[in-house]
Amino acid sequence: MSSTAPATASGTFAIGGDLTVHRLGYGAMRITGPGIWGAPADHDEAVRVLRRAVELGVDFIDTADSYGPFVSEDLIREALHSGGADPYDGVTVATKAGLIRTGPDRWHQLGRPEYLRFACEMSLRRLDVERIELFQLHRIDDQVPEQEQFGVLAELRDEGKIRHVGLSEVGVDELARAQQVLPVATVQNRYNLLDRGSQDVLERCERDGIGFIPWFPIATGDLARAGGPLDELASRTGATPSQLALAWLLRTSPVQLPIPGTSSVAHLEENVAASEVELSDDDVAALDALADGHGR
Ligand SMILES: NC(=O)c1ccc[n+]([C@@H]2O[C@H](COP(=O)([O-])OP(=O)(O)OC[C@H]3O[C@@H](n4cnc5c(N)ncnc54)[C@H](OP(=O)(O)O)[C@@H]3O)[C@@H](O)[C@H]2O)c1
Repeated sequence: MSSTAPATASGTFAIGGDLTVHRLGYGAMRITGPGIWGAPADHDEAVRVLRRAVELGVDFIDTADSYGPFVSEDLIREALHSGGADPYDGVTVATKAGLIRTGPDRWHQLGRPEYLRFACEMSLRRLDVERIELFQLHRIDDQVPEQEQFGVLAELRDEGKIRHVGLSEVGVDELARAQQVLPVATVQNRYNLLDRGSQDVLERCERDGIGFIPWFPIATGDLARAGGPLDELASRTGATPSQLALAWLLRTSPVQLPIPGTSSVAHLEENVAASEVELSDDDVAALDALADGHGR
C-alpha cells in the first residue's frame, strides 16, 4: 500500500538520543555537476528533488560543504529554507567538513582545527542556520593529530554551533578513541548489500545506540540496474532492485539510516517507496545469501 509520505513507513531513529528522523533519508551529493563539481545539469530538477523528498516524508538530508563544493548546501537552502524560526521546518540537514576540492573527482583531507572551524562557520552561513543539527567529520586527516580534530568538534558543540557530531569512514578503534573525547551520534561508512566491510562498525553502532548512515546504499545504481544481481528477486516480489537493496538495509538493523542519492524525481520516488516494501523471511534469506556471496 502506498501513502503520500512513504518515508514515514521506514520508522524513526533518535540521533544522539533526541533528534528524531525517519530512517530513510536522502543524500544530496548527486545534485551537483559531473565529478561532484559545479552546478547540476538541471538546476530546476535538483530543486524539485529536494522539495519532493520532503513531501514524501523524508526529514533527514545529508550533504557536505565539498559537494560542488558548496553547490549542494546552496541548493538545499534555496529549495527548503523557509525563513522562519525553524528554517527547515523539522527537516534535519546534516552536513560535513574535512575534505577540500581541487577539481572534479578530486578530494583531499584537511582536518586542521582552524580549517574545520572555518568550514563550520561557512556551512552555518550557507545553510542560514544558527546551529547545525548534525556536523560530520568527512574524514579523519592522517596528517593532523586526531585528538585535535575531535577536540575542535567538541568545542563547536560546547559553543552551540553544532548539536550532534558524526564521523565518516572510521573503524571501530577510531570510533572508540573519538568517543573518549565527545559523544558520537552517527557514523557514515560505505555499506550496501554487496559491500559489508564495515559490518564490525555497524555492530558497534548498534551496541552504543549510534546512527549508522550507509553511503553508497545502491552502489551508484549498480544494484538498481536491470540485469543486475537483484533482478530475479525483483520479478518475484514486484519491488524494484533499488527498493530491495534499500529495504534490506532498513531490515538489517534499527540503527541503519540509508541516504540514497539521486538527481531525478522519478528515482527519488522509487527509492523512498522502499520504506513500504515488506520483505518476507524468504526474501530476506535470499538477500542475505546474495550478500554472503559477496560482502565481507
Ligand atoms: N561519507 C562519505 O564519504 C560519502 C561518500 C559518498 C557519498 N556520500 C553520501 O551518500 C549518499 C549516497 O551515496 P551515492 O550517491 O554515492 O550512492 P548511491 O545512493 O548508492 O547511488 C546513487 C547513484 O545511483 C543512481 N540511482 C539512484 N537511484 C536510482 C534508481 N532508483 N534507479 C537507477 N539508478 C539510481 C543515481 O543516478 P541518478 O542521479 O540518475 O538517479 C546516482 O548516480 C550521497 O548522496 C552522499 O550524501 C557520503
